[in-house]
Amino acid sequence: MSNTPLKIGIAGLGTVGIGVIKILSEQSSIISARCGREVNVVAISAQDHTKERGFDLSNYVWHSDPLAMATNENIDVVVEVIGGSSGVAKDFIEIAIKNQKHVVTANKALIAGAGLDLARSAELAGKTIGIEAAVAGGIPIVKAIREGLSGIGIHQLFGILNGTCNYILSEMRETGRDFDEVLREAQDLGYAEADPTFDIDGIDTAHKLAILSSIAFGCEINFESVHVEGIRHISPLDIQFAKDLGYRIKLLGMAKKTKIGIQQRVHPCMVPISTPIAHVEGVYNAVVTEGSFVGQTMYEGRGAGEGPTATAIVADIIDIALARNTNLFLLPTDKLEKMHVAPMSSYRGSYYARFMVIDKTGVFATIANALNDNGVSMESVLQRGRSESEAVPVVLTTHETDEASLIRALEAIERSKVVVEPPRFIKIESF
Ligand SMILES: NC(=O)c1ccc[n+]([C@@H]2O[C@H](COP(=O)([O-])OP(=O)(O)OC[C@H]3O[C@@H](n4cnc5c(N)ncnc54)[C@H](OP(=O)(O)O)[C@@H]3O)[C@@H](O)[C@H]2O)c1
Repeated sequence: MSNTPLKIGIAGLGTVGIGVIKILSEQSSIISARCGREVNVVAISAQDHTKERGFDLSNYVWHSDPLAMATNENIDVVVEVIGGSSGVAKDFIEIAIKNQKHVVTANKALIAGAGLDLARSAELAGKTIGIEAAVAGGIPIVKAIREGLSGIGIHQLFGILNGTCNYILSEMRETGRDFDEVLREAQDLGYAEADPTFDIDGIDTAHKLAILSSIAFGCEINFESVHVEGIRHISPLDIQFAKDLGYRIKLLGMAKKTKIGIQQRVHPCMVPISTPIAHVEGVYNAVVTEGSFVGQTMYEGRGAGEGPTATAIVADIIDIALARNTNLFLLPTDKLEKMHVAPMSSYRGSYYARFMVIDKTGVFATIANALNDNGVSMESVLQRGRSESEAVPVVLTTHETDEASLIRALEAIERSKVVVEPPRFIKIESF
């Protein structure tokens, strides 16, 4: 056992920061045995020194300014769990690297935007930036790609990367309640933020997907090119129809190598009930990778919360203690290829579409003609209820088509006034 402990400074003492301190304290003997040296928190920083945090922090040096902690010569590794895609979190990491410290962060928003620059700085300084906690919390997906799958080529990955959305969609399906009601409940339970935009509009999933694509495909991260749709418009009616058609609705992040480049997309989709990912429920996350030689591998677990996220941070700290230093995106930055982006306009797939119609003669012919005129071929049709005074839903699924054609058909149907509200559509994934 080395008698030189690894000394840690933690910036941010919220959910994740306190979780890290708890694990390093409660697991200290097994961690030091595995590392061959002690791993000790020596300094901390947050905004409010007086806040009760449910843990005795009196033995640690307090820095009211995290940027001052980043220069503290008594620290080997800093943990950034403040959050935010710029500002203090970014400054903190940059200063820490300049001051010869390894970094561990859970900050997917920051890595999705500034990850490449930070990776270059870390390389120049000969330091590591560990990001396991930034993607899918307690699921060791970065390690899986870096270690278990390191010898093969990954050509596709997809997953449920946001527990808040998965909880909302699972609850809507189980209880028949609408989106707003379930979102409010998720906020009360602490599964959704007071401002849930990043989660429910798919942005958080897109951050994580961009990070995973870069690692899996060996190319520069390109968050801007991710096609993003959220789950606000999903209704209980769509969820019920999905069930009737043999699907579940999930918000997926999907990245794929295609002939013309890498396609990255985040949107709700109908997945067949027979697939394992359809059964990943509640706040759970899952990632599926598809690669040469090995085929599909799937990883499931808690994607957020104190314990799972802190578990991933501590694993990165242990790697650093064992000098298992890695590049942020696995390859050195000068070996990452520029990403050739496959635009969403090149995507072809099957769709579900729902129309709220007044059930009169000729309505169905109008819908069928508009689809036909735009080259969209129908696979199946479902109608629930009949009423000449109230709108009833008509639902159809299509054969493979491009989205632009479907949208043109739906716009024509909306203009024809046979529907009482804009038609809704959801992509169907068959995997
Ligand atoms: N929570 C999760 O389940 C989860 C999962 C995966 C990734 N993450 C990521 O982990 C990071 C932290 O998340 P969290 O949930 O732990 O956040 P949090 O509970 O809101 O905690 C943030 C902490 O940062 C401190 N802080 C904010 N501004 C600061 C400043 N200018 N200087 C010093 N400290 C400052 C706050 O101090 P005070 O306490 O004094 O206000 C607080 O302790 C984020 O990047 C998040 O995206 C979180």
